[in-house]
Amino acid sequence: MAKLDASVYVTREIPRPGIDLLVEACRQVDVNPDDRVLSRPELLAAVRGRDAVLCLLTDTIDAEVLDAAKGCRIFANMAVGFNNVDLRAATARGIAVTNTPGVLTDATADLTWALLLSVARRIPEGDRFTRAGKFKGWGPMLILGGDVSGRTLGIIGAGRIGTAVALRSRGFRMRVLYCDSVQNEALEQAVGAKQVDLGTLLSESDFVSLHVILDATTHHLIGARELALMKPTAYLVNTSRGPVVDEVALVEALRRRQIAGAALDVFENEPALAPGLAELDNAVIPPHVGSATIGTRTRMATLAASNILALFRGEQPPNIVNPEVLPLREV
Ligand code: GLV
Repeated sequence: MAKLDASVYVTREIPRPGIDLLVEACRQVDVNPDDRVLSRPELLAAVRGRDAVLCLLTDTIDAEVLDAAKGCRIFANMAVGFNNVDLRAATARGIAVTNTPGVLTDATADLTWALLLSVARRIPEGDRFTRAGKFKGWGPMLILGGDVSGRTLGIIGAGRIGTAVALRSRGFRMRVLYCDSVQNEALEQAVGAKQVDLGTLLSESDFVSLHVILDATTHHLIGARELALMKPTAYLVNTSRGPVVDEVALVEALRRRQIAGAALDVFENEPALAPGLAELDNAVIPPHVGSATIGTRTRMATLAASNILALFRGEQPPNIVNPEVLPLREV
């Protein structure tokens, strides 16, 4: 079969099956040879003259990059979140933007639970304690954590991932509250979840888990005022995007034990951490690994590649987030 007349740039090494799909189908495919984020000048140079770019959440795709990529038809982001792409600027230039929803829902929900349990039961702290040679035998008061079973779970953002996290609470017999602009009847039926306002969720939940997208309306959704509404025995879990939480305010709340703990997979200024965060024993802080399983990252890579191929085959990319750039499909 003739190759598609497309020159594709992939901004960093991704699982091989995604690259193979592109290489088999397209005239030219180049991949950033270094396993690191491209510098700004490197990114601007790399996208020039391309028909498609497969990018990552660590690439800032703004008007300047889109202009450098003049003639490019699609930026396929290998992530469900696409806050790193200036969607308005892309749409204004007629460039399609796609993401990779669905394939990472389970992995991210699983990691959310791993974090929730880790922070409540102080697992990283206990691990550090044992490795440091401080474990001198079982103790009745040694590393006591918070209960999980039977407690109240508050889900902020009851979309795909928030719903998957809530469904996993069944084994823990939890009461589920959720906060979302739309009602999620399926979730209400499945686990008896109750839709409440943000203030009620924060003040009644033992675990508050964030699953919103990052945009102007969710930036610093959780700040000093919201943290003050939480119980002193409650935990915050964030596997969404860092800037949803005011990280400086959170460090202060954790330091003063205003809340019991926080588990964060994402940070406000990744990879930098707010001063003091890394020193806190009541914070669990893995390095943004929500979707980091071999299977999930492989599915994300092939989905991102498939979105590019669909466009060049004259089809609507399955995960286009600005379909208004395409001619209307016949129905
Ligand atoms: C990961 O953070 C993603 O948005 O896919």
